[in-house]
Amino acid sequence: MMTMKRLVVWMAAAGLSAALTTAVVLYLQGFNEHGLGAALFVTGRLAFLAFWPSYCGAALVIVFGAAFVPLQRRAREFGLAFAAIIAVHSLLVLWLTLIGAPPGRTIFLEFGIALGWTVLLTVLSFNNLHQWLGRRGWRAVKFLGMNYIAYVFALDFTRDPFGGGLKHWLEYVPFAVLSIVGPCMRLLAFLQRRGELATIH
Ligand code: HEM
Repeated sequence: MMTMKRLVVWMAAAGLSAALTTAVVLYLQGFNEHGLGAALFVTGRLAFLAFWPSYCGAALVIVFGAAFVPLQRRAREFGLAFAAIIAVHSLLVLWLTLIGAPPGRTIFLEFGIALGWTVLLTVLSFNNLHQWLGRRGWRAVKFLGMNYIAYVFALDFTRDPFGGGLKHWLEYVPFAVLSIVGPCMRLLAFLQRRGELATIH
C-alpha cells in the first residue's frame, strides 16, 4: 500500500511539474501553434530526463558500482513519472490537432507506437498486473517497450544535432549524447554480466 501511495505521489509531482512548465511556456510563447510547439519541445525533454534513469539505472550499477543504487531503486518511480509527463505531452498534441495543426503522419506513427508502449508498461506496472505474464514474459515486454522508447528519443535527438548554431547545439547535443550513452550502458552491463556468468560456470 505504501509503495502504491509513493508511486501515485511521484506521478502526480511529475505531471504537475510538466503542467506548470507548460503553462509558463504557453504564457511566454503564446497560446497558439508556436507556443504549443515550444511546450512539446520542453515536455519532450522533461520526459526524457525522467525516462533515462529508469532505462539505464540498473545498468549503471553493474558498470560503475553501488553509487548508482539510488537510481536503480527508483527505476519504477522514474518510469511512472515519465508516463505522467507524456500524458501532458499527449494533451498538447491533442490541443494542436484540435486547432487544425496536427503533427505529420511519420510523427504520429513513430511517437504513437512509443505512446502505446508507455500506456502498456504503465498499466502493467500497477498492482503487479505484470505477474500474469510471468517473469520472462514481463522482462521481454519491458525490454521491447523500453528499447523502442529509447530508440524514438535517440532518433529525434540525433537527427541534426549540429545544425542551426549554438542554441540548437545546446538544445540537442546533451540529449543526443545521453540518448546514445543509455543503450551503450545497457549493452556494457549485459556483456559484463555474461562475462561474470561465464567465469562462474
Ligand atoms: C512516449 C511517447 C512520446 C515521446 C517519448 C515523445 C518525445 C518527444 C520529444 C523528445 C520531443 C522534442 C522534439 C525535439 O525537440 O526535436 C517531442 C516533440 C513533439 N512530439 Fe512527442 N513524444 C511522444 C508522444 C508523442 C505523440 C503521441 C505525438 C503525436 C502523435 C507527439 C508529437 C510531438 C510533436 C508534434 C512534437 C514537436 C516536434 C517539433 O516541433 O519538432 N509526441 N516529443
